[in-house]
Amino acid sequence: MDVGPKSEYLHDSAHQFVPLGFRHLNKETWVVSKSLERGERLNYVNTPHVIAMVGLPARGKTYISKKLSRYLNWIGINTKVFNLGEYRRHATSAYKCHEFFRPDNKEAMAIRTQCAMDALDDVCSWLDNGGEVAVFDATNSTIERRQLILNIVVKKRGFKLFFVESVCDDPKIVEQNIMEVKINSPDYHSMGADVALRDFLQRIEHYQERYEPLDENTESGLSYMKIYNTGEKVLVHKHEGHIQARIVYYLMNIHIIPRTIYLTRHGESEWNREGKIGGDSQLSSNGIKYAIALANYINDQSIQNLRVWTSWHHRTIQTASGVRAPQERWKSLNEIDAGVCDGKTYAVIKRDYPEQFESRDKDKFSYRYPRGESYEDLVARLEPVIMELERQTNVLVVSHQAVLRCLLAYFLDKNAEELPYLEVPLHTLIKLTPVAYGCKMEQINFPIEAVNTHRPKPQKPGYLEDRFKFPEDKETGGADDKPTPCCKNADNGDVTLPT
Ligand code: SIN
Repeated sequence: MDVGPKSEYLHDSAHQFVPLGFRHLNKETWVVSKSLERGERLNYVNTPHVIAMVGLPARGKTYISKKLSRYLNWIGINTKVFNLGEYRRHATSAYKCHEFFRPDNKEAMAIRTQCAMDALDDVCSWLDNGGEVAVFDATNSTIERRQLILNIVVKKRGFKLFFVESVCDDPKIVEQNIMEVKINSPDYHSMGADVALRDFLQRIEHYQERYEPLDENTESGLSYMKIYNTGEKVLVHKHEGHIQARIVYYLMNIHIIPRTIYLTRHGESEWNREGKIGGDSQLSSNGIKYAIALANYINDQSIQNLRVWTSWHHRTIQTASGVRAPQERWKSLNEIDAGVCDGKTYAVIKRDYPEQFESRDKDKFSYRYPRGESYEDLVARLEPVIMELERQTNVLVVSHQAVLRCLLAYFLDKNAEELPYLEVPLHTLIKLTPVAYGCKMEQINFPIEAVNTHRPKPQKPGYLEDRFKFPEDKETGGADDKPTPCCKNADNGDVTLPT
């Protein structure tokens, strides 16, 4: 273990002095933050956190855990979910019925307590090894269980602890949750839906017998939030610090109303055709065809309460102009700022800034264009967009390649290495529909020619594919210095475009 000297102090959220790049272990000792050792994204977590869910079964705890973890990872906080049901399934043979969860079933109760201890052990070792936020996804429905967690997590280990309770007294929401996710759980794979539903309702009754909701009188020292009926009301008690405030803010904004989010790049632009990045050029004639086809497609769907969001650039506003729905312009949806490289082709950037070109290939997520932005900057710029998207129902976002990669990474849970290489072809509409614990993605390819602007991760930093090179540098020879105007999609023969 690397132990740091007391130098370059920072204040941590518990008002202790912590040296830069270290995290507090006890009064005299700091441990080098594993994230810094690995050269990963810097962030705001000095003291690791445990977020412990609370609530009866089928109250959306797993949904909240997974969604919160996806969000925190996206903003750069290393987060992992520990689901107690998985520990129990691992420790026992096939699930038989609700009897296992009777509070007077001593044998089963011993197994359940041991599983909770094992899960908490794993939570602590993960946080000791570079993890920043561990979400403990379990019912934690008694004061006794919460005291056990407090003792291990806070008193013994010095981590921070925040409880998130989901309270739901609407039987329709509970039944919907059971039918959507619980009957598909491995516990019920050999039972029919009706039997599974009945068994699960009895399982809930066993928990109800001992359920002690969080209460400011009985557990006055705990930090927690309570979410009633999927967000109808929220109560926050003694939250501590920045991370907990961000979690509260995020969870206040999410909802479970079915909806669809559509994402698309603008139609092909004049600069796409010339292989130049950035700028504010107009649509090409192919781009105009796409704008018309997109408007026809969306208008034909008659999507309820649809809202259209574009960036401030001409090409996105032109692309959305025929869509009949209220439109909003977001500066935050503008394309990544390429700084000194704005308006240049990849070939020109490689020639004029060879070191910059290579650096970007080495770590595309963190690389910041001189006087411009990095993908990491872009994620930070897009956080308010995500927050507002979470609040909305049906939205069509018309934006740009790098921006849509960031938004897609959030919805599809992609990490910082994958994010800058996600494929977002021109003239393609991406349809995202929330399902169970994630998002279903469909692509609607419009058969309108466009250039392919996607530059895949090169084997060797700085390598440039032939199609992006100056004609005289091409290994296969070439007639012009423009990227290939279009290419066939290997799967279906649809026309796709380069980035
Ligand atoms: C389970 O075993 O499925 C859940 C355990 C719990 O959180 O009570």
